[in-house]
This record gives sequence, C-alpha cells and structure tokens, in this order.
Amino acid sequence: PLDNRVKLVEVGPRDGLQNEKTIIPLATKINLIERLARTGLSTIEAGSFVSPKWVPQMDNSREILEHILRRDIASPTPLTFSFLAPNLKGLNNANAILEKHPNAFETQATRLANPSASSHKPTVEIAVFAAATEAFSQKNLNCDIATSLKWFGEVIQAAKQRGLRVRAYISVVLGCPFEGHDVNPHRVAEIATEMLEMGADEIALGDTTGMGTAPRTKELLNCLRSAGIRNEDISMHFHDTYGQALVNTAVALEHGIRTFDSSVGGLGGCPYSPGATGNVATENMVYFLESLGMDTGVDLDAVSDIGAWITKELGKPNDSSVGKAVIGA
Ligand code: HMG
Ligand code: MG
Repeated sequence: PLDNRVKLVEVGPRDGLQNEKTIIPLATKINLIERLARTGLSTIEAGSFVSPKWVPQMDNSREILEHILRRDIASPTPLTFSFLAPNLKGLNNANAILEKHPNAFETQATRLANPSASSHKPTVEIAVFAAATEAFSQKNLNCDIATSLKWFGEVIQAAKQRGLRVRAYISVVLGCPFEGHDVNPHRVAEIATEMLEMGADEIALGDTTGMGTAPRTKELLNCLRSAGIRNEDISMHFHDTYGQALVNTAVALEHGIRTFDSSVGGLGGCPYSPGATGNVATENMVYFLESLGMDTGVDLDAVSDIGAWITKELGKPNDSSVGKAVIGA
C-alpha cells in the first residue's frame, strides 16, 4: 500500500511574498515564519539569496536566516528552512551567516541519521531554480539554461560541503508565459536528471503559470518515470492561476508523488511570470489531502488563522476558499 503521509513544503514566506511591491517589515516576515512553524509544517521556504536589484522584497533574507539560527523556534516537528540561491554569490551570502552560528543548525546527515529525535536544531536547505524554456531562463536568471546549470553545479557542490540539503526547481514545466503551453516534457526530464546527477536531493516541478492541466500533469510525470526519475525525488509546485491545482494534485498523488508545495492564504506569484497568481493555498491542500485519508500533520485551523491574518496584514483578499470557510469569513 502507498504511504499515506504527505509532506507539504510551505513556500508562503518566499514565493508568497517575493512579488509584493511594498517592502514587508522584517518583523511581519518573522512572525509569519514562527506562526507557520507551530502548525506542524516541517519545511518552510523562508527567503531568497538573489540579487536585491532583481527581487528587492527578498533583500532581508540574511536577517531572516540569522533570526532562525539565533532563536530556538518552537514547533511540534523537526524543522527545515529553505532559501533560494541561484549562484555562488547567493550561496556565499548564506554561508557567511551559517559560519557565524555553526552550532545552531544540524547537517542533513545528522537529520537523516535520526529523523524523529525529540530535540532538534533546524536544518537548512538551499534551492536552485532552473527553467524548462530558454525564454523563461533569460527573464528569470538573465542567462541560458546551460549557463544556469553550470552555476547550479557549483552551488550544489558548495552546499553539500556545508551539510545542506538541496532542492532543485524547474520552472514553467507545464506552460511558459513566453513560449506557451507546449513545454517539452523530455527537456524537463533531461534537466531534472542533470541536477540529480549534480547531487540535488529533490526536483521541484514548477507550474509557474498555473497553465497545467490534469492530462498534461500525467504526461509529464509519465515522461519523468520513463526517464528513471523516482517519485520520492519529486515535489510538485502548483500555482493556481486557472484553478487547476487541486485536480493536478490528485493526478500527481495517484501517480505516487508525496511532496507538494503550497502557500498560506494562496499568496504568491513570480515577478518574471506576468499574470501568474499565487501558489495553491496550504489550507486547501490540507483540507483536500486529509479528505482523501492522507496525513499532512498540519493543523488546518491554525493555518487558516494565519492565512486570514497575513492577507489582512498585506491588504490582500484571502485566496484560500477553505481558509475562509474554516474561519467563517
Ligand atoms: P545579473 O544582473 O545578470 O547578474 O543577474 P550579474 O552577475 O551581472 O550581477 C548583477 C549584480 O547583482 C551585481 O551587483 C552582483 O554582485 C549582484 P553590483 O556589482 O551591480 O552591485 N548579484 C547578487 N547579489 C545578491 N545575491 C546574489 C547575486 N548575484 C549577483 N545571488 C541573477 C543574475 C541570477 C543574479 C539575477 O537574475 C537574479 O537574481 N535572479 C533571480 C530572480 C528571482 O529571484 N526570481 C524569482 C524566484 S524563481 C520563482 O519564483 C519560481 C519558483 O517559485 C518555482 C515556480 O513557480 O516555477 C521557484
Ligand atoms: Mg513559484
């Protein structure tokens, strides 16, 4: 029988906030991260070591990492905090903070050796992010796919030396804002294989534009399976622009995928993907998965309260239908 545990990767503090035009106070971001950590979510994407000229909203990621390492953040489960880093400059910026607090986090090896120990320091994860199309790579990273993969090889090697887990995104896998629907799944499989061979621990398949449909999700996953990529090495990262994220989630679950990204309150969007809206809401994912008898370990009431709070804080509508129903809004 398939394992009924599902891991949700909460990307709200990064993907959810990176597109906001007014700079969100550090205290609000930290409050969001600490509240999310108490709901049972085990992995929280907390920031991004990218160029502040490109994504000004993520400029205080250093302070966020520093806070995470200084404070013993309360949580019912061992925590992993994830940060994007596209190149060695980004990784070195993260490493400079880790060097200052060498005993404040545990390595991936330590965590794997004893995954459910009752007292845990957090682990830190680095995320690189490739694109499935040349046009999106140019817009998002200002380079072609081959060049980006060279950077990622360096980032992955350096991150591993530091004992950090690495996830590797591939964006626009089910539709590109510049090249359309017909993204080649074989190209996705090639890029995924290359990044796994470089040492990435996980491939996160980004439906950046939300253009993915159930049949094409299935086609993509079948293609990756034929290329020898294991389900346990895949996470699905659905944006909900066309309202297809839960349907696509059902297809991926049926296929055997057990890791999914989501964002509290349905926050989010990529600054280099015009028109794309937020990630699928964490509240909707928890409700949907639990209705199928899956175990997310996440407290739906708590996460719904956070969605209501953060969207109000940002002056945005709450994009989680489940969240609104749960709090009675
Ligand atoms: P560039 O302008 O070609 O880079 O940008 P450059 O090497 O010419 O450097 C320009 C300046 O940036 C220099 O500073 C560098 O030092 C600095 P200056 O000398 O002018 O003062 N710089 C950096 N600063 C801080 N951290 C760094 C860094 N690198 C260079 N890491 C670059 C190339 C990759 C830097 C740029 O294109 C970039 O930062 N892109 C990131 C874009 C981004 O963050 N997009 C959103 C995340 S991806 C996403 O949302 C999709 C996802 O959710 C999955 C999905 O939905 O599909 C993950
Ligand atoms: Mg995204």
